[in-house]
Parts: sequence; structure tokens; C-alpha cells
Amino acid sequence: MRIDRFLSIHGYGSRRASKKVLRRFEVKVNGKVISDYSLQIKGSDRIEVDGKEIPNVPYTILMLNKPAGYMCSMKDENYPSVMNLIPEEYRSRLRMVGRLDQDTTGLLLLTDNGVLNARLAHPHTEVTKTYAVTVNHILRPTLVDLMNQPLDIGRGETAAPSKLTILDEYHATLTVTEGKYHEVKRIFGHFSYDVVALKRIALGPITLGDLEEGKTRILSEEEGDSLLAICHLQKGDQL
Ligand code: URA
Repeated sequence: MRIDRFLSIHGYGSRRASKKVLRRFEVKVNGKVISDYSLQIKGSDRIEVDGKEIPNVPYTILMLNKPAGYMCSMKDENYPSVMNLIPEEYRSRLRMVGRLDQDTTGLLLLTDNGVLNARLAHPHTEVTKTYAVTVNHILRPTLVDLMNQPLDIGRGETAAPSKLTILDEYHATLTVTEGKYHEVKRIFGHFSYDVVALKRIALGPITLGDLEEGKTRILSEEEGDSLLAICHLQKGDQL
């Protein structure tokens, strides 16, 4: 792939703008500053823009720490769209991997790798999603076993067994393997609990870490590889 196409895939504008990037920023391939935008790069090359290493893969995976009050939709509707929080250069290309409710916070991935996105969302892939949950009344220890079995969550739907870890009276983490509509709220609702705060803290091998609310970061190549691995994808299969 040519370096100008690589830079445009990684958010440095159109190919024409990427040529400007080569003039404005210091772009290094394997430690050597380059100025030729037709340079072909190989999969093993190490690419840096202004000292920051860019994962050498032909797609982008972005993590957002979603604040409450934003909707997982492409456009503003009743609430502003999460796309307002995505750096402008990525906005037109990236699509959300699944959705979080308007009042849910935490880890949301966006990617332009359509195959990866479809696999992550596919029920057969059984990607684990872990949520930090705050509820409105005291958590009973018996819930751990009760949630670890299939549950009728209404509307003719059954939630697969989930893993509850009680942290204290009102706080727990719940790991689910599906992505049913309002799934966590409906699982707790089955036991007459209201979820008063919900935050996704992990998706498969990817954790939210200390990313500030409302901020984004590009996943590292290793994180991207770990997602490909759980989806049984090879680097060559993307896009
Ligand atoms: N389960 C929910 O109830 N809401 C979310 O946003 C995600 C999972």
C-alpha cells in the first residue's frame, strides 16, 4: 500500500491531504523520515507520525468512553449522536460495533473493518461484554447462581447465562455473551432490580482502562490482533 493511502485510512484526511501531512508532520518509516508520498509500505514496516506509532494495518479501530446523554446513532435524534465525539477525520468512515443505551457509559468501539464488525456483532462469536452495574436495592448473594442460568427476560426472549460478581451491596459486574436489547437492565429487571448506573468496562479482550469519559483512542495493533483472533480472522481477511 502507498504511504498516502495508509495515512488517509488512519485519519490523516484524503489522499491529497495526506500529501500535505508529509509536508506538515514528520513521517517516519522504519525510523527514516520520508518525503515521497508514493512510497510503498510493507506489513512489517514501522510507521510513525510526529513520533507517534500508527498501527500498520489497513483499517482503524477506535475506542470511545461514551458519556451518558449521547445516542449510538449516526445522526442527532432525541439526544446528540456519539459521532459528535469522534475526531472529524474518522467520522465519515467509522461505524459503531453494537450499541449502548443513551444512559449507558463506557467502552464503545468503532471501526471501518466491516468483516470484523459483523463478526463481533454475530451471536455465534459470543464476545463477552462486562458491565459495571449499580442497582437500587441490596444485592442478594443468591443472584450469582440465579443469573448463571438461562433467564426469561420478557418479549419471548431468553438471556444466556451470565456471570455476576457482587462488589458490595449496590455494585456488581455482570459479564454477558450476547447483545440483546437492554439485556443487562432486563436481566436485573427479572429480579425486580432497577439499574441506576451502567458502564461497559470490557469487550472481549479489550478493556476501557483509564480512558477519560468523552475521549477516544486508537487501539494498538496488539489489541486489534486480539479482536481478530476471537473472531477467527486473519490479518489478510480484513475489510
Ligand atoms: N444492556 C443494557 O441494558 N443496556 C446497554 O446499554 C447495554 C447492555
